[in-house]
Amino acid sequence: MNPGSPANLDTAEVGILSTEQASRNLLSDAAQLVESGMQAVNQCIKGNLNSDIALINSLSAYIINSGGKRLRPLTLLLCSRTLGLDDTNQNAVLLAAVIEFIHTATLLHDDVVDNSDLRRGNATANAVWGNEASVLVGDFLYSRAFEMMVKTNKMAVMDVMAHTTNRIAEGEVMQLLNAHSADLTENQYLETITRKTAKLFESAGQLAAVISDADESVYLGLAAYGRHLGTAFQIVDDMLDYTQDAASMGKDPGDDLAEGKPTLPVIQAMKTASKADQEIIRNAIENGDRESITRITQIIESTGALAYTSRRAVAEANLAKQALKCLPDSRYRQALENLAEFSVARTF
Ligand code: IPE
Ligand code: IPE
Ligand code: MG
Ligand code: MG
Repeated sequence: MNPGSPANLDTAEVGILSTEQASRNLLSDAAQLVESGMQAVNQCIKGNLNSDIALINSLSAYIINSGGKRLRPLTLLLCSRTLGLDDTNQNAVLLAAVIEFIHTATLLHDDVVDNSDLRRGNATANAVWGNEASVLVGDFLYSRAFEMMVKTNKMAVMDVMAHTTNRIAEGEVMQLLNAHSADLTENQYLETITRKTAKLFESAGQLAAVISDADESVYLGLAAYGRHLGTAFQIVDDMLDYTQDAASMGKDPGDDLAEGKPTLPVIQAMKTASKADQEIIRNAIENGDRESITRITQIIESTGALAYTSRRAVAEANLAKQALKCLPDSRYRQALENLAEFSVARTF
């Protein structure tokens, strides 16, 4: 077990079983509940990748078929199911595919911006085809998602997604502006991840409520569920960047440090580390120094910054679960609670 994983924290405190297998089971058991819906989503994704431009077909198929967790479509289908929609409901399936397209577009762009070489255990699209092709095919996926969502003929859907994609873009720009700043605050960090990551999860809950004609309290509850889930998910992603290896994550560890990204583990360590260790972190963030990852990982562990970060993620996951109180109890609601547990227990 990796020393930095949440499993080494007091489990009574985190209240979560966090072996790798247990976390995989949380995800696969939840997916099992809407298996036919998830199959329909995959069909819908494949059916909408077509273009008469060969590069678009090959690059988008490469990234889409490379084995993502499909967590956002799963969230949307389970939310829809809690509101009485069948998991193969046409709008639910279509919008789940839309959300995965938007997620995939952001990954294509993100890997260019972050100079990343590995994603889902494979060379990134930018490493294979170059930055220009990745950015442009990312734009294709974004705009294809909008073509698809128009088919629901619901202005409220368009409203949610127009707003969501705009917030994501703002989040990515904020992150660019924050790069190499060793004095970033926790609040500034949270504002960025709320936009770049949590907003898309939030929209999964919102869209489920919209297509089910749910009342306002459910709409707001599912929005809050997605937002907290997504926040927990990104906080943990930022921990994994220091604590996991490429084999388990499918991404290169240390990418955040290499880009000078001040994420919560280092932000917290800057508050509690010795002056000398603060200088080590400052230098690494300001210069984007991947080589110092071993030393920085030691610092975030020994100062308790990693444990603090994990507790922040758990707190967000608990808020996500609380937000589900707007729904009657059901096995689908339970599965959504399990996704919140997965978001903090995961190692991949
Ligand atoms: C990666 O998201 C980007 C983040 C928001 C951290 P995922 O970890 O959901 O990516 P895939 O789709 O499973 O590869
Ligand atoms: C999430 O940020 C990316 C988006 C929300 C687009 P990261 O940069 O942490 O994601 P990974 O680690 O590359 O998947
Ligand atoms: Mg990245
Ligand atoms: Mg990351």
